[in-house]
Amino acid sequence: MTAVGIDAIEIWTGKLKLDLAETFAPEKGEDPEKYTKGLGLHASSFPDAHEDIVTMGANAAHRLMERKGLKPDDIGRIDVATESSFDNSKPVSTYIAGCLESVYDGDFHHANKGERKFACIAGTQSLDDAYNWIKAGRNRGRSALVVATDTALYARGDPGEATQGAGAVAMLITEEPSLVALSTEQGYGSADETDFLKPNQQFPSVDGKRSMQVYLARMREALEDYESVAGASHPDDFAYVPFHTPFPGMVRKAAVLAYRHMIRDTPIEEDLAEEIGFQPREEDYEDREAYKEAIREHMDALGSTAAYQEWYDAAIEPTLDISREVGNWYTGSVHIARAAALKRAAEDGRDLAGEVLGVGSYGSGAQAEVHAETVRDGWKEEIDQLNVDEQIDDRYDLSFAEYENVHDRHNHDKSVELEDFTIPESEFVFTGRGRMNERTYEYVE
Ligand code: HMG
Repeated sequence: MTAVGIDAIEIWTGKLKLDLAETFAPEKGEDPEKYTKGLGLHASSFPDAHEDIVTMGANAAHRLMERKGLKPDDIGRIDVATESSFDNSKPVSTYIAGCLESVYDGDFHHANKGERKFACIAGTQSLDDAYNWIKAGRNRGRSALVVATDTALYARGDPGEATQGAGAVAMLITEEPSLVALSTEQGYGSADETDFLKPNQQFPSVDGKRSMQVYLARMREALEDYESVAGASHPDDFAYVPFHTPFPGMVRKAAVLAYRHMIRDTPIEEDLAEEIGFQPREEDYEDREAYKEAIREHMDALGSTAAYQEWYDAAIEPTLDISREVGNWYTGSVHIARAAALKRAAEDGRDLAGEVLGVGSYGSGAQAEVHAETVRDGWKEEIDQLNVDEQIDDRYDLSFAEYENVHDRHNHDKSVELEDFTIPESEFVFTGRGRMNERTYEYVE
């Protein structure tokens, strides 16, 4: 069977940085460790004045096309996943195609373009759409370009303000890919939830604590649904488990839940029983509250065992390397978690070809999806091309007053002029608005 998956990936971070411990915490009167240890975040990325979801997406896509020597004719489909769109009709993919056409011979008139929306999970849904299109044999030998791009802003003073971020991930989906092949098996956990939403407003209405419960509930459902087609999963099945990462602390909670689920009725549970007892079984409790309390206690104990810590350090912690420096990129978040894991494996000199990743995507509103990815022979050459560390280091470090100006500049309800903090070079920039209030762009050499 022909493998289909991600052939190449490029990442573009917003070029500004808000340091949470040094700059944000003192202004908020909070202990810096609330952010660095509690949420697990060191900094957030923000777009410069000349950046937005189109420029970040187009710049990531352009780097990817240049590196792979692609021309518009090689790409038959452009899907953009975003929850930061500024137009209810014209998709961001048309703007990105327009940017790319301005620097290439040829055009994307033959390419199907769209915009996927389901909060953060839309990035993975776009991958799935591309996979299905290729598997169905409708691609006529062409590849699909998937771009996940977001500027994740919260209202100032909202608890979510500490988890903002901005950046784009461009992915090329092909037959016989170099990076990872996607599994046919998938599992879903999907329910009508009102924990995080943007009813025709830019900044989300969020019930933060509830959103975390919904994330865990849907993720557990998705894992069970995945296992119903792929068979029971075991911690040893996966080299890494990249999760949607709104902030690393959320992944810490998801990871212990997944581990508890995967070790149930295995020799690992038996070995750990001496130390922390067997996992509580619902039938042993009189009411659900007592059972839930017992589960909470068991999870706390499980999280501090050496067996769990070893698994977490190997399979989860490396997935957080990029996220903790850039914040939540919404649709791109799980895709930078995968990239971070592969990057760490390359840095550690690990031979990963043939190993499997367990990928847990999530979007509020709410839906989780679990699937597996098999690492391909060309993964290391591909991942070695990323320059995300340099991009992260090169960001302009904002003062708090500058951060507030940047936040206002990207607030759709405000019209704020702001000088660029960085000088654009070899990239697409936002130039203003046209006759029909469309956004306009140009390439700066
Ligand atoms: P908060 O209420 O200000 O923070 O906001 P907190 O008081 O709960 O503290 C956070 C953690 O830091 C806690 O850890 C504290 O104990 C710890 P926990 O108990 O949860 O393990 N802490 C400290 N640790 C060490 N030293 C200290 C210290 N102080 C506190 N001094 C909240 C937290 C997540 C609610 C907020 O950031 C928020 O509303 N975020 C936005 C919503 C969100 O990200 N939800 C995540 C799940 S939903 C999701 O992932 C989807 C999403 O990406 C959107 C989409 O799909 O489109 C958001």
